[in-house]
Amino acid sequence: MIETERLILRPWRDEDAAALYRYACDPEVGPAAGWPPHESVEQSLEIIRTVFSAPETYAVVLRETGEPVGCCGIVPSDGAHSDAVYGSSAEIGYWIGVPYWGRGLIPEAVEALAARCFDVLGMSALWIVHYDGNDKSRRVAEKCGFAYHHTEYGKPSLLGDMRTEHFMIRYGG
Ligand SMILES: CC(C)(COP(=O)(O)OP(=O)(O)OC[C@H]1O[C@@H](n2cnc3c(N)ncnc32)[C@H](O)[C@@H]1OP(=O)(O)O)[C@@H](O)C(=O)NCCC(=O)NCCS
Repeated sequence: MIETERLILRPWRDEDAAALYRYACDPEVGPAAGWPPHESVEQSLEIIRTVFSAPETYAVVLRETGEPVGCCGIVPSDGAHSDAVYGSSAEIGYWIGVPYWGRGLIPEAVEALAARCFDVLGMSALWIVHYDGNDKSRRVAEKCGFAYHHTEYGKPSLLGDMRTEHFMIRYGG
């Protein structure tokens, strides 16, 4: 569990399924990150038990309410979706429910994950990868000290389309 000023980052639990569905069914959220909107609470539960059970995958929980409102995680280089993410580096992924956009909550989560990667897990570099046109995600990366590195084209998403990905990097130390 990781605590920040406004957030608790903790593993997902079965009982989070209804909250997960509430935010992940919104078409403003998943497609921007490359996955389809959730279609039922049952599907959200299945995703909690499969995708979200991966190590270093956290529910973004508001300290004020105890509600999970988003997700963030650290994907190590061997699970990342590009050969550019190699060696002692990892990729950070994230999303948050639309009602909570614009409060700087994901930058707060990213700073906490970056501290874990550099200070605890001994990583040398971190990546944030965003699709072309996802300026909100680019802004998160910029505000957290990531700099543009390179672009990859023709990358398939889980929605079946091909996309352009921009890679941003932050070095530790
Ligand atoms: C990208 C995302 C995680 C940002 O989270 P956040 O906690 O809102 O981050 P911030 O509060 O720092 O806002 C980031 C930018 O989003 C934009 N933004 C904020 N609130 C917004 C709103 N209500 N509507 C549209 N854009 C908004 C702003 O450009 C902001 O940048 P700024 O601080 O320079 O103005 C969130 O928008 C999201 O979940 N998007 C859908 C999923 C996604 O794209 N995930 C990333 C995949 S790489």
